[in-house]
Amino acid sequence: MTISTPRLKSLPAWQKLKQHYKEISNVHMRELFTSQPDRFDDFSIAWQELLLDYSKNRITEETIQLLVELANECGLPEAIERMFTGEKINNTEGREVLHTALRSNINKPYNIVSGDDVMPEIRAELEKMKDFSDAVHSGRTTGYTGKPFTSVVNIGIGGSDLGPHMVVNALQYYQKDIDIYFVSNVDDADIAKTLKKLDPETTLFIISSKTFTTWETLTNAHTARKWFLQSGADSSALSKHFIAVSSNVPEATAFGVAEENIFEFWDWVGGRYSLWSAIGLSIALAVGYDKFSELLAGAHAMDKHFRTTPLEKNIPVILGLLGIWYDNFFGADSQAIIPYDQYLEYLPSYLQQADMESNGKRVTRNGEEVDYNTGLIVWGTTGTNGQHAYFQLLHQGTRLIPADFLAAVESLNDIGEHHRLLIANFLAQTEALIRGKTVDEARASLEESGLDNEAIEKILPHKVFPGNQPTNTIFYQKLTPFNLGALIAMYEHKIFAQGIIWDLNSFDQWGVELGKSLAKIIYDELDDNEPVTTHGQSTRGLINYFKQKSSMI
Ligand code: F6P
Repeated sequence: MTISTPRLKSLPAWQKLKQHYKEISNVHMRELFTSQPDRFDDFSIAWQELLLDYSKNRITEETIQLLVELANECGLPEAIERMFTGEKINNTEGREVLHTALRSNINKPYNIVSGDDVMPEIRAELEKMKDFSDAVHSGRTTGYTGKPFTSVVNIGIGGSDLGPHMVVNALQYYQKDIDIYFVSNVDDADIAKTLKKLDPETTLFIISSKTFTTWETLTNAHTARKWFLQSGADSSALSKHFIAVSSNVPEATAFGVAEENIFEFWDWVGGRYSLWSAIGLSIALAVGYDKFSELLAGAHAMDKHFRTTPLEKNIPVILGLLGIWYDNFFGADSQAIIPYDQYLEYLPSYLQQADMESNGKRVTRNGEEVDYNTGLIVWGTTGTNGQHAYFQLLHQGTRLIPADFLAAVESLNDIGEHHRLLIANFLAQTEALIRGKTVDEARASLEESGLDNEAIEKILPHKVFPGNQPTNTIFYQKLTPFNLGALIAMYEHKIFAQGIIWDLNSFDQWGVELGKSLAKIIYDELDDNEPVTTHGQSTRGLINYFKQKSSMI
C-alpha cells in the first residue's frame, strides 16, 4: 500500500483558489451582477443550438482564470488528447477509452496509438444495426409465425439499460410504430409486469450485457426465454426472438443466441459510455437508424468542441470546473440536474451512473488515498414537478446545492400555453435562487399586504430567502436527436474533465464488486430454512428473520 499523498492540493493554482475562495465566499451574486454589467455575455457560451449561461455562479473572472490554471496544471489538455488518441487511460483495466470513436465520422479512419484503425469494425457493426433495424421496421424480419414485431424488450442493467432507456424515452416524439420496453431489475415485478403486456409472437428480446455475466440480466433473460417457450413456441423459434449485444460472444452463444444475432462491442467501450455502440440498438429500433446516427453526429460535434476549444470557452470544461469549485472549495455535497423537459425525465438517473460510477472514487490513478472530496452526489427530477417537491430546500434550506437547469427553446408539441408557462417557471426559479429576498424586501411585501407590525415581525423570518444559490442554465433549441447527443456528450466530457483534476480513473468501477460477491454467498444460504451462524450480527439476524418469515408463508 502506497503512502505518498496526491499532489492536487499542493498545486499553485489550488493554493491560489483557496485564498480566492476566502475573498469571494461571502460575496452575494447580486453584487457580482451589479459590478459586472456584461456578466451574462462574459459568462455564457453559445455553441451550435446550445447556450450555456453560467453567470449565476459564485465566480468572478479571476475564479475562472484560476480554475483554468488548475486544469492546465493537472494536464487536462494533454489528457483529452490521450483519450482521443486511444492511450490506455483506463489504467486499472489496461484498456483504451474510445466511445468517441463510435460517433466519429464513419467515413474517416480513427487511428489510435497502437497504430490500429478502429473504424472498419465500428462501421461493420453500425451497418449491421442499420440492416437489422430497417428489416424489423419494414417487416422483412418477423417473428416465428411471420407476424411483424410490435414490441422490443431490452434486458440489461446499469450502462446496458440507463443510456438507451433515457434516450428512447427522450426521443419518443420521433418513435416509430413499435413499443420499446426496458427490463433491468432482478425484482420479479419488473419482468412480470412487462411480460403481461406482450405477445410472444410479436416480441423481440435484446439481451444487452457487455460481460454477459451480469446476474440480474441473465436471470431476466432466462425468465423471458422460459415464458416464450411456455407460450407454445418451439426452441427453433428462439433465434428469431432473442438477440444479444455483448463483448462476450462465447457466453452469449452459450445462452442460445445465434452467432449472427450477436451485436458486438469492444472492451474499449465502458458500460456507462456504451449507448453509442450496439447497446443503442433499442434506440435505432425505436426511432430508426437515421435518427440514431443524428444522435451520434450531435455527440461527435460536442467531441470536436471539447477537443479543440480553449479551456475557458469549452462547455464541458467550464461545467466540470464549476463542479470542482463548489465541491472542493465551498464543500457542496450534491448537485441537482433539473430538466424542464418531460422527455428528459430519465436524464438525472442516467447521469447518476455516468457521474457517480465514474468519479465516486477514493484513490488516485496511482492508488494514493485522496485528501480532497471527489464526485458530487447527482440527483434531480423534471421541472416544474420539482418545484412542488424539493425546491423548498433549495430556496430556504441550509445547504449549497449547485444545479443545472435545462430546457428547450421550442416545444415539440406546442399545445396551448404550456411551453410559455414552463419557460416562465424555468427562468423564474433560477432568478429566485440567485436573488433571494432580503429582510427589507420581505418586510415591504408584508407591509403591502396590509399586515400589522406585530404579525409582520412574527412571520418575517419565514419569508426571507438568502438567494446566492448557483445555477447553470442550458438552453437547446429543440429536443432533436442531434442536440440530445450533444448534451449527453457534454456531460460525459464534464465528468472526464473532473476525473482528470481529481486524478481518478473515471473508467473503472471496482466499488460495485464487493456487494455482488456477498450477494452470491447469501443467495446460496437462502436455499434452505436452516438458520445461518455466519456473517456479522445484524446481517445474520436479518437472514434468519427472512428465512423464518418466508418459510411460514
Ligand atoms: O455493476 C456495475 C456494472 O458493471 C456497470 O458498470 C455496467 O454498466 C453494468 O454493471 C452492466 O454490466 P453488463 O453490461 O456487463 O451487464
